[in-house]
Amino acid sequence: MGSSQKSRTYFVCSNCGYESVKWLGRCPNCGQWNTFKEFRDEPAGAKTSSGVERVRKISEIEIKEYRKVPTGIYEFDRVLEEGITPSSLILIGGEPGIGKSTLLLQIAKALTDKGLKVLYVSGEESPEQVKGRAIRVGISSDFLYVIGEQDVSEIKSVVEKIEPFLLIIDSIQTVYKPEIDQVVGSVTQVRECGAEFLRMTKERLMSTIIVGHVTKDGTLAGPKTLEHMVDVVLYLEGEKGSDLRILRCTKNRYGSSDEIGIFEMTSGGLKEVSDAATLFISKDHVRKEGIAYTVLMEGKRPILVEIQSLVLPTFFPTPQRVTTGFDTKRLYMLLAVVERFTGVNLRGMDIFLNVTGGMRVEDSSADLAVVASVISSYKKRALPDNAVFIGEVGLGGEVRRVANLQRRIEEAKRLGFINVFSPLEFKSVEEVVKLCLG
Ligand code: TYD
Ligand code: MG
Repeated sequence: MGSSQKSRTYFVCSNCGYESVKWLGRCPNCGQWNTFKEFRDEPAGAKTSSGVERVRKISEIEIKEYRKVPTGIYEFDRVLEEGITPSSLILIGGEPGIGKSTLLLQIAKALTDKGLKVLYVSGEESPEQVKGRAIRVGISSDFLYVIGEQDVSEIKSVVEKIEPFLLIIDSIQTVYKPEIDQVVGSVTQVRECGAEFLRMTKERLMSTIIVGHVTKDGTLAGPKTLEHMVDVVLYLEGEKGSDLRILRCTKNRYGSSDEIGIFEMTSGGLKEVSDAATLFISKDHVRKEGIAYTVLMEGKRPILVEIQSLVLPTFFPTPQRVTTGFDTKRLYMLLAVVERFTGVNLRGMDIFLNVTGGMRVEDSSADLAVVASVISSYKKRALPDNAVFIGEVGLGGEVRRVANLQRRIEEAKRLGFINVFSPLEFKSVEEVVKLCLG
């Protein structure tokens, strides 16, 4: 065996999933003591033949091309770029109660409607409870098999007997391998079971979706340690008190991963939201100062979002800058540009900035809207009606082009935002502010 065939030893914190090449007494991530456990990854291509026997010209390598199978739930398929790739392992994470089981039952319904077999393994709820939910989402099919089982070897036997197209494990925190001396849901069990499902999936033309409960503060971090092992990582997210659910893809070995799926939780399960363009804005504000609109691209889809600012004199020696859905460091940078190039002094001001609807701004195209919103609140004056601000702001106070500018502008106009402030007409922040707010 060559040195590349050596197995890799590493240590994982059983509390938070932090990985280290060395054993550590205290986890640098979560601060817990004596939580590191040793793991060993066997080399991926552990074969008996030597490297010299196995090396090939790239032109001689044949790959098995599988056609993706669309579920017909368009908002789900678009996130996976067309559908489920056969023989793939998918992890879907999200907070408890967000709707993962509901979504998966609906996917099961869509697939069984096409005559494909689905095996739903529920370790959380009894088959009767699953049935109750199934009735709510309108599913009853002889192609859907349900079992309440937690032992992975039992699950394997059932898979061998039924040979499903899709295996659903709900959830990874409830299954275990009896030969491993660790409690169900522990990082060790989660990883070992994950590895077992990976083997099961790659051995046959079956795809597997693993549910993992994950919380924002990382208290249920076990499934995060599966991310490098699986082919696709999805997250289902939503704001407290809101029915909106966003499905994001953070890793996809079979395509790009920047599309999102948008759903609404209803009494009959998750409903697809196809025209999401104006979902995240409200146009009936009592007061309009501090409010600016912009267009974000979520994958190929333009979505209008609203930036709200509140700027007011501070009571503290150091003013506060608090953001929701926007990078605070970027706000600091934009405030410096405002101060230098528009003459507005925000030093003694607290600034609160919010992207409404639970959206997160991750590209720089909202810079101009952020600047407009902050100055509008500072001056207590509303921005022009039906105005939209699209553009990156540079350190020289210049307004810069962003990707898909034309597409964004078209969408804004389609939705009645006819006053477009973009780098096509405006070269500097100064010009925009002068025109809008005097
Ligand atoms: P669930 O899918 O069980 O969440 P998870 O598997 O992520 O823990 O969904 C939980 C919530 O969704 C629960 O509070 C009830 C609600 N719900 C509906 O509002 N409508 C429905 O049709 C269903 C099935 C659930
Ligand atoms: Mg569930």
